Amino acid sequence: MAYENLLITIENKTAVVTLNRPKALNALNELTLLELQGAFIDLAKDDEVQVIIITGSGEKAFVAGADIAAMRSLDALEARRFAKLGHQVMQNIEGCLKPVIAAVNGFALGGGCELALGCDMRIVSENARFGQPEVNLGVIPGFGGTQRLARLVGKGRALELILTGEMIDAAEAYRIGLANKVVAADQLLETAKAMAATIINKGPCAVQLAKQAVRNGLEMDLDRANQYESELFGLCFATADQKEGMQAFLEKRPANFTGA
Ligand code: CAA
Repeated sequence: MAYENLLITIENKTAVVTLNRPKALNALNELTLLELQGAFIDLAKDDEVQVIIITGSGEKAFVAGADIAAMRSLDALEARRFAKLGHQVMQNIEGCLKPVIAAVNGFALGGGCELALGCDMRIVSENARFGQPEVNLGVIPGFGGTQRLARLVGKGRALELILTGEMIDAAEAYRIGLANKVVAADQLLETAKAMAATIINKGPCAVQLAKQAVRNGLEMDLDRANQYESELFGLCFATADQKEGMQAFLEKRPANFTGA
């Protein structure tokens, strides 16, 4: 499928989705959100893809937020619909069974920070800047930032970012657990691809079930979450990957996983 605001390449079972509106610092307008939604529906079904990386075009920004010019004249109902679309996109990403890595190559502000939060892991370049600056515009985060940021870095740090609207640099993002890794800008994509390659080498069924266990389990109380984990653990034993993985270990050879 051809996209106006996205570039998608697929190589070595890894899809790289690049937000491509560099003149607007890759700001998320309705078309971009709809394209992201469509892309994730397609990539989720594509057997050639096991891991997805999201990044931004240009050297300056991952995504500088929802598109302010497009939002300026929305009425309340239109704004709610726009926020719902953003939520659906983040849910498509977070709920995708395949791991999704954000390669944050600069500003990740507002909806951009929220997009990074929807991903499973965030590898960030040294020039990355994170923030939820919506209060500067007289609004609040609308694509899940009030919820996912607090769940990831804790209520106090999330509120500090959301209420002050201040940006933090890559080192601070790493310190508070918002970034998984900080690397030089010219190493960013290679590092994300190397992480993808490491994951691709593992049992694909186990990788998908592990993502589900962590993601869905976090929304349950501990007893239910552990029960859920044991169900998914049991499900692993219905896969050829489990038989191959354990057999290969005992035969002291690398496993040849098929994802079945
Ligand atoms: N929406 C629309 N256009 C944007 C944009 C955004 N979020 N961010 C940047 N742009 C545009 C600018 O308007 C500018 O366009 P022109 O060249 O046509 O004037 C271009 O991108 C380059 O930006 P700057 O000239 O401002 O670049 P800079 O280096 O001086 O500053 C910046 C970079 C600090 C990221 C600054 O652009 C900025 O503060 N952007 C807005 C960040 C923001 O407030 N994001 C939150 C949006 S609200 C939101 O996301 C709500 C939600 O949760 C759903």
